[in-house]
Amino acid sequence: MTNETQQDVLTSELRAELTELASHYPKKRAALIPAMHRCQEELGGWLSPEILEALAEFFELEPVEVFGVASFYPMFHFKPVGRHVVSVCHNLACHLRGAEELIEKACEVTGCKAPGQTSPDGEFTVLRVECQGTCVNAPMFDLDGTFHENLTLDDAARILENAKGAKA
Ligand code: FES
Repeated sequence: MTNETQQDVLTSELRAELTELASHYPKKRAALIPAMHRCQEELGGWLSPEILEALAEFFELEPVEVFGVASFYPMFHFKPVGRHVVSVCHNLACHLRGAEELIEKACEVTGCKAPGQTSPDGEFTVLRVECQGTCVNAPMFDLDGTFHENLTLDDAARILENAKGAKA
């Protein structure tokens, strides 16, 4: 990617914001994760290959390093997502406590055909994710950054119904 294209994706306003953000850290690269959050917000919920490359250039890292960090965390997305993101844990504790039924219920209530997909109205994306560290309160999902734990199918349906039309 040329520097000109990188400047297109990383607008001067966003670049200035990231520079200010990085000034709060002892090393510029330590601001990578908050910078990815900010860029994801700017792009409407996902990180494009172009923005990841621009971030690599900004932080003087290899693109693969930036992608490696972003792909480690389930809160970063690499394709467009719905206005609300429902990340359902499917690892052992959650699996034993009904994660598969929970995923099915989340898809049914949101209109997503399957995990990994976005509802036709663009409101919801349901994702299957790895352990979120709240195994003791399995099963769980993360809705737009808020954990909901010890879920029954009725709880899940109510929470997702309430999210319809609500601000993400
Ligand atoms: S297994 Fe689901 S939170 Fe740990």
